[in-house]
Amino acid sequence: LSPVITIDGPTASGKGTVAHRVAKHLGYHYLDSGALYRLTALMAQNKGVALDDEPAIAALARALPCRFDHGHVLLEDVDVTDEVRAEAIGVAASKIAVLQEVRKALVDLQVSFRNTPGLVADGRDMGTVIFPDAQLKIFLTASAEARASRRYKQLIEKGISANMENLVKDLIERDARDSARTAAPLKPSPDAIILDTSEITAEQAVQNVLEWFAK
Ligand code: CDP
Repeated sequence: LSPVITIDGPTASGKGTVAHRVAKHLGYHYLDSGALYRLTALMAQNKGVALDDEPAIAALARALPCRFDHGHVLLEDVDVTDEVRAEAIGVAASKIAVLQEVRKALVDLQVSFRNTPGLVADGRDMGTVIFPDAQLKIFLTASAEARASRRYKQLIEKGISANMENLVKDLIERDARDSARTAAPLKPSPDAIILDTSEITAEQAVQNVLEWFAK
């Protein structure tokens, strides 16, 4: 089995950026597991499936017609790279992520990303549920303020309108939903290294992870 580095943490903690850069440094594959929850939520929205219809959403997740191609995300052959990152889809994703059947339906797809020479997996339960045998587990955190202002910058850079007050509110609600759910609640694996990124840059976080991995 190829080596895996898991990077879990709350929304806008910098996971995506750090995981992607670490993967690039090592020449490893990258799994953005949140994208799978987002794609499932987008698919449900497109098909008019209610976000609490567990069997119907699990069925969508089990046969998710998605592809990842050079940084682009395709759903049913449509480029949804920007659409899937929208804040409303993130909120919808966190609603369907509480459903155990949906989480189960996405396991095989996530595990299939583990290929030579290795994988960096970013999410909420990569170290606890999907890759419990990972070589290195990181739990990234940052203060709510730091995370909200990062998310704000990201959205504005993409030309998506954002409102700081709403972002903080969404972020706190999403944290609460992710931590309180019974299905794979957001919490560090006991063997994870906790890395607080409130006061450090993404590049410093990347260097930390690479150093720990080299040990
Ligand atoms: O970018 P952000 O951290 O806001 O979200 P994301 O990583 O794209 O994930 C969207 C939502 O999917 C999260 O709020 C989680 O509720 C859920 N998720 C999860 O439950 N398990 C994962 N491994 C990844 C995401």
